[in-house]
Parts: sequence; structure tokens; C-alpha cells
Amino acid sequence: MPKSKTLSHVFDADTSRSILKLRSDGYIGELSGVLGSGKESYVFYSQDSHNREVAVKVHRHYINAFKGIPSYLGLRGSKTGGFFKRIDEWTRYEFSLLRKANEAGVNTPEPIRNYKNIMVMSFIGKDGVPAMMAYKDTDFDTGYWYDKITDFIIKMGKVGMIHGDLSPYNILNNEGEPYLIDFSQSLKLASLTKDYLLRDIKNINQWFQKLGKIEIMPEEKIMEMIGFDGG
Ligand SMILES: Nc1ncnc2c1ncn2[C@@H]1O[C@H](COP(=O)(O)OP(=O)(O)O)[C@@H](O)[C@H]1O
Ligand SMILES: [Mg+2]
Repeated sequence: MPKSKTLSHVFDADTSRSILKLRSDGYIGELSGVLGSGKESYVFYSQDSHNREVAVKVHRHYINAFKGIPSYLGLRGSKTGGFFKRIDEWTRYEFSLLRKANEAGVNTPEPIRNYKNIMVMSFIGKDGVPAMMAYKDTDFDTGYWYDKITDFIIKMGKVGMIHGDLSPYNILNNEGEPYLIDFSQSLKLASLTKDYLLRDIKNINQWFQKLGKIEIMPEEKIMEMIGFDGG
């Protein structure tokens, strides 16, 4: 209780109420540590009522002119609903695509609960210690990771989605296994959005090219495996 009280000043009243609701429903406990804090969101460590470790991502209700909301969601100009509602919609979208990737067999946090601008997911890490981002913790088998991550991209593509922001900042090294996080820029795959897919593949290829010593698959080949013939 005292700890979350000290954090409560960062939340608007509506978000505070949602946090309390998730607490009384047992999905979260005290928010006892900050795992990340960016322009658009905070991520906290907590434990649910069964002491399961969880990560709680809270999208800020007050963000700078919706800069973070991907324009393709068409939410920026939405005339219906207020400011908060659009952020809640964005959170719902992120949560649904996290779930879609998870169900497709991609290593991701397990989606647990979405309520308004908050999402609860499983904690990637152990005993309160989060897995590190892959740009910091490079202790992994490069060839294995490349195969795994390209397979994740293909798996997501086959169920019609793109991560949209794939980089070593959004991949956690969980005891040698790559875990994809942060589906806030994810989108549905269509011919109109295939450039975003290509961008993800290029980012991954460039990163692994730098790491070296493995064979990189041509981008077109990966696109082809997802069902795009490059046209
Ligand atoms: N499920 C999780 N388990 C452990 N740490 C997490 C989890 N989700 C996010 N984090 C940590 O919080 C940071 C920010 O989360 P992310 O979803 O990437 O938000 P942002 O949109 O701010 O980049 C991540 O880089 C990671 O260190
Ligand atoms: Mg991120």
C-alpha cells in the first residue's frame, strides 16, 4: 500500500481508479518497481493475488499531441470519444495483437488482462529481476536467435500481423531465449502495410549482420515465405 501510494502521484484520477479495480480483482498487487518509463507509457513490476509476477503497462492518458499513436490506427482524428477513450482504444489494440502473436507461437509475455489504458501481462524475468533488453545483454547464440526471430516474424505474418517496432530494444534476453515485447506499434498485415513488415525484417537483418558470423536470409525470401512475392 505505501509504495503504490508514492507512485500514485504519477497517475490521473481515472487511471488510479483503474489500478484500484485491477487490484481488488486480484490481477495486480502493489506496483513495486518501475521496469520502464517512456513518453507514452510506464511499465511496473507487481505480483497478482497468487504471487505470480506480472508486468503492468500503463499508457499515459496525457501524452504529447498523440505523437505516439500510430497514424494508421486512424485514432488521432477520431471525433467520437474523448482523449482518454482513444488511448484506451490504442491499449486494447496493443493487447489484442500481443495476444495474437502469443497464440501464434511467438515468445512474448502472456497477455493476462486489459482494462482501459492498462494491460497486465506475465513478467519476463525471475524473482523481481527483469530480463535485459537484447542490446544490453548480448549473451546469446546468434545463429539460434536469428532463426528464432525470423521464424517469429513469419509466424506473425502468417496470422496477418506485423510487430512494427522490432529492434534489440524490444527483445528481451530471457535466459538465452528471445522474447518479443512492446506491440504498441503493431498492425495488421495488408498490401498497404507491407513496408512496415519489410522495415522490421531489415532492422533484424542489419542487427544480425553487425553481430556477424551467420548467414542472413534475403529480405525478399522472408517476404516470400509470408506470402508476398515482392510485387
Ligand atoms: N513483460 C515484461 N516483463 C519484464 N519487463 C518488461 C515487460 N514489458 C516491458 N518490460 C520492460 O519495460 C520496458 C518498456 O516496455 P515497452 O513495452 O517496450 O514500452 P515502451 O513503449 O515504453 O517502449 C522494456 O524495455 C522492458 O525493459
Ligand atoms: Mg519499447
